[in-house]
Amino acid sequence: MTVLPSALDTGGPDYLANREAMLARLADLETEHAKALAGGGAKYVERHRERGKLLARERIELLLDPDTPFLELSPLAAWGSDYAVGASLVTGIGVVEGVECVITANDPTVRGGASNPWSLRKALRANDIALANRLPCVSLVESGGADLPSQKEIFIPGGAVFRDLTRLSAAGIPTVAVVFGNSTAGGAYVPGMSDHVIMVKERAKVFLGGPPLVKMATGEESDDESLGGAEMHARVSGLADHFAVDERDALRQARRVVARLNHRKAHPDPPRAQPPAYDDEELLGIVPGDLKIPFDPREVIARLVDGSDFDEFKPLYGTSLTTGWAALHGYPVGILANAQGVLFSAESQKAAQFIQLANQRDIPLLFLHNTTGYMVGREYEQGGIIKHGAMMINAVSNSRVPHLSVLMGASYGAGHYGMCGRAYDPRFLFAWPSAKSAVMGPQQLAGVLSIVARQSAAAKGRPYDDDADAALRAMVEQQIESESLPMFLSGRLYDDGVIDPRDTRTVLGLCLSAIHTAPFEGARGGFGVFRM
Ligand code: COA
Repeated sequence: MTVLPSALDTGGPDYLANREAMLARLADLETEHAKALAGGGAKYVERHRERGKLLARERIELLLDPDTPFLELSPLAAWGSDYAVGASLVTGIGVVEGVECVITANDPTVRGGASNPWSLRKALRANDIALANRLPCVSLVESGGADLPSQKEIFIPGGAVFRDLTRLSAAGIPTVAVVFGNSTAGGAYVPGMSDHVIMVKERAKVFLGGPPLVKMATGEESDDESLGGAEMHARVSGLADHFAVDERDALRQARRVVARLNHRKAHPDPPRAQPPAYDDEELLGIVPGDLKIPFDPREVIARLVDGSDFDEFKPLYGTSLTTGWAALHGYPVGILANAQGVLFSAESQKAAQFIQLANQRDIPLLFLHNTTGYMVGREYEQGGIIKHGAMMINAVSNSRVPHLSVLMGASYGAGHYGMCGRAYDPRFLFAWPSAKSAVMGPQQLAGVLSIVARQSAAAKGRPYDDDADAALRAMVEQQIESESLPMFLSGRLYDDGVIDPRDTRTVLGLCLSAIHTAPFEGARGGFGVFRM
């Protein structure tokens, strides 16, 4: 074993200051998570309960095996938008009858559970996760369909939700719909496209058009039950496979359906793993409040991996990127972690080689981000930094082993891409509250804008207003800073959630377990042309 040593001084002023800064950010995060949990607010939650209904998260809890975790995804979706935090949809991964499933649940306390543009993104992301990892998909349905005022943003792309359901089915990935309430118009295609359908008596309403629309269209008089009630669908139309007497019965029946899926994981579960040799609590004090101060990612790795056991690859070469092999909850992983922030040519080449090795060995990769990007400047351009950065991006793009990304600190510029940012399809991507991501740092961006404006004024022979420039710089800096923060980025679904650093090992363990449901094989070739 190669147990990592630790130089973390947990009584020192730096550690204590870092920890305090992280705890303050976690408190802010908790406030925002509480908004998602509150759904549509007390009035709508109360009304929902008075109707004898369970809340979205209560439905999920009853569906899951007792005392098993639920990895909720993107709880901050829609943060910073005009829509409620959480986007009227709960999504995540949980265990039902021993089977890991993707679960989605409409939150009917938020605008009748209607889908807005962020709910749509969240639903599509859940489908992607189900498909990539071959996880059965259980939809807990009760929704007013499209959020009508924003229909232009969702109607056309929204068709993908139903397309995905049938593609999952075609790929042999089971889909189950449990209908608790409204599932009308387009929403009717959620049960329509699912493999297994359960409907709740006198609650489910599944029709293409409700009584008023039918009256308008054909003049026919009808009612909810005869058009789309559970009893009608179970006895007459055949859309419902299972008739549930109430919500609890529906969830019980959903568990029975999953128990009979005969869904098997592609990889056996690993043996019980050793915990890290250091306390995960100490993850709070590693990342400095000021991201300009570097930190040693080995201190993080030592608190994430089994037994803190890490075999470093090329430790003396390209030292600004730490690479090496470890196991996490028993699953082998290759880790790439930024050390000093900047990626130089050597780091880029080392990364490309390491990624190729992981592909040869079928080992998933974990990217721990804290990078300001690829090095700029004459010496580095002449040394071929573009070629070498491109090598790393080529390797990441064409790698076929599953990738996991965690944004610990900075994730700027093309460094975000090389380290498998969102556009590079990591199976999962999480951010710590300390993370920041943007095309470049706010000060640098404001400074670049100012230089460009000054040059433009000079070219036109106009005087340059220095006071206005200072005000503009301050404004831009503030704007970019706020747009780089994890809550803002999470609101836009650019990650799968902002997590407490102390939960990282558990979260990654759940992800690795989900990943090992599907078979995977590394790329033995098939990379693009590496520029040498
Ligand atoms: N788009 C936007 N807002 C919607 C909505 C939708 N599709 N459905 C409901 N809302 C809003 C309501 O306007 C209401 O807002 P308010 O409280 O600020 O007045 C809030 O959500 C709750 O709706 P309410 O009707 O009071 O809740 P309910 O639980 O009694 O009924 C529905 C829920 C979904 C059955 C009902 O609102 C409905 O039929 N909505 C329209 C459904 C529809 O036709 N959708 C288009 C399908 S493509």
